[in-house]
Amino acid sequence: MTHATPLSITWQDGQLRLLDQRLLPHTVSYLEIENAEQAWEAINTLAVRGAPAIGIAAAYGLVVAMGGVDEADSAHFRAELKRNGDYLVSSRPTAVNLAWAAHRLQARAEREPTHGAIRAEAEAIHEEDRAICRGIGEQAKDLIIPNANVLTHCNAGALAVSELGTATAPLYLSHAEGKPFHVYVDETRPLMQGARLTAFELNNAGISVELICDNMAAALMSQGAVDLAIVGTDRVTRNGDVVNKIGTLNLAVLCGHFGVPFYVACPSSTFDPLTPSGKEVVIEERAPEEVLGEHAAKVSVRNPAFDVTPNSLVSGIITERGVARAPLGDNLAQLLGT
Ligand code: MRU
Repeated sequence: MTHATPLSITWQDGQLRLLDQRLLPHTVSYLEIENAEQAWEAINTLAVRGAPAIGIAAAYGLVVAMGGVDEADSAHFRAELKRNGDYLVSSRPTAVNLAWAAHRLQARAEREPTHGAIRAEAEAIHEEDRAICRGIGEQAKDLIIPNANVLTHCNAGALAVSELGTATAPLYLSHAEGKPFHVYVDETRPLMQGARLTAFELNNAGISVELICDNMAAALMSQGAVDLAIVGTDRVTRNGDVVNKIGTLNLAVLCGHFGVPFYVACPSSTFDPLTPSGKEVVIEERAPEEVLGEHAAKVSVRNPAFDVTPNSLVSGIITERGVARAPLGDNLAQLLGT
């Protein structure tokens, strides 16, 4: 029996509701977002997380934050939109979709500084994301050959976007076609997005799923148990370097060693042509308590939330417009027209 995975973001009659992903998989509860501070807090504390989802949440969060601002004064309206946008973008530094969404609303307000216009732009971002995820799935579903064993990391699933996910979109479409395959999910320390979120949503869908600790992937690959890895990303730089959840680089190195194809799936809005390489990306460093948990000795901690996988380790980047392969810098620019 399958269960519907709850939507990460709902927007109805001007009310923004964000699924509180910190409580999953055991509790399904929504936060009602009434102002910029609540939106900032929800993004910063990972109540809503995943690059496309935080872009959509920030877009609606901006619409909510702008609620009391008089549109009769266009200059003031634009200035307040910029101020609130900068504030929301400061909630997390690494995923490019956050700034991308805020800039889209600001660009719209340059032409049309009204509440109706920014609201329409936020709704368009949300609607486009649904089509984009489906497009990623269509582009990549043939990579999932019958009886394939697929490995994924973190959660680049339905919960990280509007629906279907990025890395998981080819899995959902393949499953809908009745194709048999199996998915290994890295638990993804320290916040367990794989164990809590990806395993939950794939299992809900009736997909064959097995949870593994992050340090088990090498052993599985050495036994020939993994045919393909697919992950999401928070930012792809101009040269095709991939910034994603900490541990992605480990996986890519292992795939290189064992000859397992390593794919990255993302909407074209996650491509950042203004940043030359992964070296220039600010990697979010989070609180030590996330790593220490209850059992560790109370020592100092490193907790970077993301790592950079060099383009040389990436077999292909799957977008809604097609799959870019090596040389990634040139082929991404050509595919995405940048
Ligand atoms: O810290 P998180 O949970 O926001 O990290 C999420 C990831 O790293 C995802 O892989 C990425 O945002 C892509 S989501 C489609």
